[in-house]
Amino acid sequence: MSKRIATIVGSLRRESNSRRIAAHLPALAPAGTEFHELAIGELPLYNGDLEELPAWKQLRDGVRAADGIVFITPEYNRSIPAGIKNAIDIASKPNGMNLWPGKPALVMAQSSGPLGGLAGSFALKQALAGAGALTMPHPEVYLSRVATLFDAEGKLVPDTQEFLRGVLAKFDDWVERNSPRRQP
Ligand code: FNR
Repeated sequence: MSKRIATIVGSLRRESNSRRIAAHLPALAPAGTEFHELAIGELPLYNGDLEELPAWKQLRDGVRAADGIVFITPEYNRSIPAGIKNAIDIASKPNGMNLWPGKPALVMAQSSGPLGGLAGSFALKQALAGAGALTMPHPEVYLSRVATLFDAEGKLVPDTQEFLRGVLAKFDDWVERNSPRRQP
């Protein structure tokens, strides 16, 4: 059975490094992995008075249907972009309908600086743990000085491709072992 992996990209800008990394994932993942992005850029801020918004339903349907979720994100002010937190909050509600418990997740952080989005990654893992997701603990992904990881054509350099190939193989196993949809 193929695996359905949803991606959530933390940056909304067109030339996003996160998005460029996300675009490489299908080619680096084990055969039989299908990727689709859950768009978060147009989601209204979570508001408990508005539980039935169509945009929220679309996000929740996407989270529900996914065997696993891969977050690719920059660090913003030592935390996560607000859009990612908003998406986590939306998919955790309404009461009794939290979609995160037991959902396999992978966090890929990147930054232009030397720390590779470490603090943002920790903040994201904390929110995911609070919501109940099963975030893969190892290997961790901190892509530092991200601009140096692409060649002139915008392709990830071979070392980074190899690293991410290994991470995605581990995540494939993590999803296999943890996704409720995949249990016999
Ligand atoms: C940043 N950046 C950043 N980098 C970092 O290492 N630590 C930080 O706290 C921040 N804070 C921060 C805040 C805001 C509002 C922006 C826009 C940027 C830099 C950022 O992580 C880096 O440029 C990423 O590579 C941007 O990701 P995208 O947009 O290319 O995917």
